[in-house]
Amino acid sequence: MIKKAILPVAGLGTRFLPATKASPKEMLPIIDKPLIQYAVEEALKVGIEEFLFITGKHKRAIEDHFDKAFELEERLKNAGKYELLKKINSFENLNFAYIRQKEPKGLGDAILCAKPFIQDEAFIVILSDDLIDPQYSVLQEMIKIYEEKKATIIALEEISQDEVSRYGIVSGQKINNYYIIEDLVEKPDPANAPSNLAIIGRYILTPQIFKYLEKLEPGKGGEIQLTDALRELLKESPIYGYIIKGKRYDAGEKLGYLKTLVEFALKDPEISSDFMQFLKEKLSNLQSIK
Ligand code: G1P
Repeated sequence: MIKKAILPVAGLGTRFLPATKASPKEMLPIIDKPLIQYAVEEALKVGIEEFLFITGKHKRAIEDHFDKAFELEERLKNAGKYELLKKINSFENLNFAYIRQKEPKGLGDAILCAKPFIQDEAFIVILSDDLIDPQYSVLQEMIKIYEEKKATIIALEEISQDEVSRYGIVSGQKINNYYIIEDLVEKPDPANAPSNLAIIGRYILTPQIFKYLEKLEPGKGGEIQLTDALRELLKESPIYGYIIKGKRYDAGEKLGYLKTLVEFALKDPEISSDFMQFLKEKLSNLQSIK
């Protein structure tokens, strides 16, 4: 059973400056819930009991978010606002740990910071920028493959050719519902990309990965890249890929974030019909200008 999840949250969030100058991009809300909470809830659904956040400067709000808010809880209780109370205190009995990454040296370096916490067991990594429709449990499917293979499993999605330079790209052979990975490259030039199969921010890793991360030289962008460590690992152990079902939202960049907001708003029972009305009016205004 996999019991631990690593949530790297040390990134600088430069795509959202100035909003992320003093507060974490992982706290950007999708309507009323921060991105990072979606990630934690996704992991809870597959039985994760311990969470390790790899944090950095200006990330204190994440710790506060998952902590008890005593004064606020008292106020809501006294005002009889039990629905709101439920929304803010659902994480009180979970184990959250925080390790600070000294410098933002890349995803691979962030994962390496988790070594003392992991010991001898497989673990999940979730990148909260990749928000997957909560209706689908990608992690559950990945765990099934892990239980059969007892090896590294990565989530994949087919993307368009012009997006390959934004992702780790793999090539492999499809067998049933998974791929046997044959190569991995971090953010290749479109001309050299081995395919259009992108790594999505869900991984099941084994402690083996630390050995490769420890030896790694900086790669793309001068950072220690998890993809490079996986490439080294592949020389000695198999890696399997699972093509995600369900929609993924790239909430880590402006347009993707906006699209995520619109789609979630259209599904939110409290606001969807008014929001749809607003969108219709907006669209018809735009069309009349055309
Ligand atoms: C990271 C990984 C990349 C992966 C991506 C998924 O990149 O390095 O291989 O495809 O997450 O979202 P980042 O988006 O942090 O630059």
